[in-house]
Amino acid sequence: MKTSDFPVFTVKSDPSEAEVMSHKLMIKSGMIRKLSSGQYTWLPLGLKVIDKIQKIVRVELNKIGCREILMPLVQPNDLWKESGRWEEYGPELLRFKDRHEREFCFGPTFEEVITDLLRQDLSSYKQLPINLFQISTKFRDEIRPRFGVMRSREFIMKDAYSFHASSECLDESYAKYMGAYKNIFNALMLNFTMVDADSGNIGGNESHEFHVIADTGEDYLLLDNSLNGMNIEIAKERYQEEDLEKIASKTGMTLKRGIEVGHIFKLGTKYSKPMRLKYTDENSKMNDVLMGCYGIGISRVVAAAIEQNYDGKGIIWPKSMSPFQVALIEIDSKKNNDIKNYANNIYEDLINNGVDVIYDDRDLKLGNKLTDWELIGIPNMLIVGKKESDDKTLTLKKREEDEKHTVTSEFIKDLSLKV
Ligand SMILES: Nc1ncnc2c1ncn2[C@@H]1O[C@H](COP(=O)(O)OP(=O)(O)O)[C@@H](O)[C@H]1O
Ligand SMILES: [Mg+2]
Repeated sequence: MKTSDFPVFTVKSDPSEAEVMSHKLMIKSGMIRKLSSGQYTWLPLGLKVIDKIQKIVRVELNKIGCREILMPLVQPNDLWKESGRWEEYGPELLRFKDRHEREFCFGPTFEEVITDLLRQDLSSYKQLPINLFQISTKFRDEIRPRFGVMRSREFIMKDAYSFHASSECLDESYAKYMGAYKNIFNALMLNFTMVDADSGNIGGNESHEFHVIADTGEDYLLLDNSLNGMNIEIAKERYQEEDLEKIASKTGMTLKRGIEVGHIFKLGTKYSKPMRLKYTDENSKMNDVLMGCYGIGISRVVAAAIEQNYDGKGIIWPKSMSPFQVALIEIDSKKNNDIKNYANNIYEDLINNGVDVIYDDRDLKLGNKLTDWELIGIPNMLIVGKKESDDKTLTLKKREEDEKHTVTSEFIKDLSLKV
């Protein structure tokens, strides 16, 4: 891709509304723009990161036999009445009426819709287990949307649901999702931990959360040496933090803060029972289906990754999620057609080697271009100017290093092996 058809929307000044680094850097680098409270537009750059995360999520879920579907965002309230959550769910559920005075809500989560889906098609134990997921926009009318996409009202979530004839089968699937989640967060190259958690509003009987460790996290985690731990969600009042520190020092655990990026639940029959999702067993007896549900906050993962990876110049993407692997920066090409041709050849070479490259063909000084790509956080910057074009070399500037190096086009082949 070239910057001439991939607009770069970097900004120099610090956005006044941003309290945490990830929010600040997402705005400055041109990943997101605010529409209104808790609502953000994803610009091309931000969406490229989302896309990389989604690919990894899809690969790992497909590996455990989970298939993708897509459910409607707007949900009729009769399903929510059946499950009992129309009354239970608080003001986070945004409710409204259509022109026929029928009541609806924007989907904050999809247990009701998917339970209704399955009861239309499920009859026998022979069809079970079934594993389905979607990646879609969710809406929660959060009381305090903050930190940009970290806690927003509209956000992208991957939600998976599993259906079983026995608790052994549910346990087995739950363990598979746990493994898939570990693979996902490892592949994303995040520093994360899994903790026992409270099932909260969604209900059920066992649940675990996945947290990215970061000082700006909203949750407190008490971790033992193996990084297994419990999650204590409390208000961030100073004295409570001190109490937790006391508990930590008494028990030999470590107190950390985390950003919840994933949450898995064994739901059991919480939805199948009231909504009558049943199957017939070998003896033609009707039973309630057992369910599990598994969420990942895709858009929150972007912010969490930045909280773990930045410096004074900007974002430092782990290569798993970097919007591009290489920024190819041409300089002085207006004055010299050879430079343009050489840069174009390098660009073709990168593409032919399967390297995800952005070719910066803007008419700007090297310093300005470097500043942009360092802010955006691209791991490799390849500079092509007069010297490089004459010598048929490339100047490499790695995001994490200060010095530049001269490399040959062999470097491109090395990169392609790492894709
Ligand atoms: N307001 C939000 N903004 C961004 N991501 C969210 C938001 N609420 C939830 N998520 C993400 O979706 C995942 C699944 O949601 P869930 O566990 O049901 O939410 P919660 O823990 O807020 O009750 C969470 O682990 C989190 O990563
Ligand atoms: Mg949760």
